[in-house]
Amino acid sequence: MDIVTAAKNRYTTKAYNPDRKIPDDVFRQVLSVLQLSPSSVNSQPWHFIVASTAEGKARVAKGAQGGYSFNAPKITQASHVIVFCARVDADAGHQELLLSQEQRDGRYRTDDDKAAQAKARKFFVDQHRFQGKDMSHWLEKQVYLALGAGMLAAATLGIDTTPMEGVDTKAIDEEFGLHAKGLTSLMVLSLGYHADDDFNAKLPKSRLPEEQVFTFL
Ligand SMILES: Cc1cc2nc3c(=O)[nH]c(=O)nc-3n(C[C@H](O)[C@H](O)[C@H](O)COP(=O)(O)O)c2cc1C
Repeated sequence: MDIVTAAKNRYTTKAYNPDRKIPDDVFRQVLSVLQLSPSSVNSQPWHFIVASTAEGKARVAKGAQGGYSFNAPKITQASHVIVFCARVDADAGHQELLLSQEQRDGRYRTDDDKAAQAKARKFFVDQHRFQGKDMSHWLEKQVYLALGAGMLAAATLGIDTTPMEGVDTKAIDEEFGLHAKGLTSLMVLSLGYHADDDFNAKLPKSRLPEEQVFTFL
């Protein structure tokens, strides 16, 4: 499928066909796109909790109770569900983890190259820690890049999705013990195939016009 057709076809699915499962080899492609997503200074400040069983989805759905219950069926009826989590800090330990991974992946010809990258990354991390004072906000932005990439990838594969910020992230954090791991949940993405009676599948897309959205120089 060409990418514009995929972008036009993608829409927020409101009801899933619980009997249709995404084949594993197709779903793995979405996961690869998440893992390959770009991030500032290659910080990769994410973790993805993937649920495909009824039990796993029920655990995620603990974040869709009370005022969030309108989103619960989109979690329990979908084929797969991904909780997008962000690191709360890019501390020295995480920076070291990144550096040693980059070394194993063959990014550095010399020790000087490696030291330069460590210094540059620390410079930007410290900017957000001390000047911007927006560390968690900055890290969360990186995770949202992965969300966009993952949703478009899913659309090209003919998979329907629902991004959901309408979840109780505190409840999800508790369910998965995220704070102890230096993580917080941001949102949930459901993936699968829409139900025949999904009202949103038939509605036209609505977007602001091109002349308002773009400036051409
Ligand atoms: C970050 C994010 C959070 C969203 N949260 C919810 C949600 O909790 N429940 C829901 O049904 N739709 C949710 N949406 C869907 C938006 O309402 C939808 O993307 C927007 O209206 C545009 O429609 P479209 O996705 O069908 O093109 C969310 C979308 C995004 C990108």
